[in-house]
Amino acid sequence: MKIIGILGTQNQKGLTAQLLDEVLRGAELAGAETSLIVLEETFDPTKQEEVRRLGKKLKQADCMIFATPTYFGNVSGSMKQFFDHLRDYFVHLTSKGENIPHLFKGKSYVSITSCYKGAFENTLAGITDATFNQIDTVMSQAGMHRAGEIVLTGTFQMEEVPAKKREEATALGKKTCRTGGKRRIYIETLFTAIWYACCVNTDCYGDSKGTSSSPLYSS
Ligand SMILES: Cc1cc2nc3c(=O)[nH]c(=O)nc-3n(C[C@H](O)[C@H](O)[C@H](O)COP(=O)(O)O)c2cc1C
Repeated sequence: MKIIGILGTQNQKGLTAQLLDEVLRGAELAGAETSLIVLEETFDPTKQEEVRRLGKKLKQADCMIFATPTYFGNVSGSMKQFFDHLRDYFVHLTSKGENIPHLFKGKSYVSITSCYKGAFENTLAGITDATFNQIDTVMSQAGMHRAGEIVLTGTFQMEEVPAKKREEATALGKKTCRTGGKRRIYIETLFTAIWYACCVNTDCYGDSKGTSSSPLYSS
């Protein structure tokens, strides 16, 4: 299993970077081959050649780990730039203007973020929600599967990730390597199948009584 960490932060030794390190360490302990892309250091989106090089590297990965602090309630600028400039790799634009999954379809991903605000405030006000939603929006359009996420709150004046959170991050890395996020996919597929079966069953039942609402059966 090949796992790539993508770090988009102003502080390359900060808490988000530390969390990413731990997730990658966990994945390595479980046997993954890992690598790291530090966007602020290596990624110049104005150079097409660089975008191509990065796209090629990501194509080889089974799983991507996106690590960004929450800045003004969303992902960092460098992470957003990364998504925007690699759009053609994530999605294919049809002649009707629809985005469909492209080169990374079927891969999995993990999201990591951190913020000043505490856990209670984050739960109530959803400080990091837009950060996760932003990542999920791109990944769902790309046809990628969420293998997990991790958030560190209350980071004001914090310099090191607390031991318990480190353990959580290491465990997530190990789990991601072992399952590749697939267990989640199976569960989601199972629920979808059950939901679909229930709908079909209800529809057939309705049809036998002549009350089906399905357009397939309406005359
Ligand atoms: C430009 C900027 C914007 C920020 N916006 C928020 C915010 O909206 N909410 C919040 O709780 N923390 C905010 N923070 C604090 C960071 O999210 C927090 O310090 C984070 O843990 C930094 O991670 P790092 O150590 O990896 O740099 C902001 C920090 C910066 C530099």
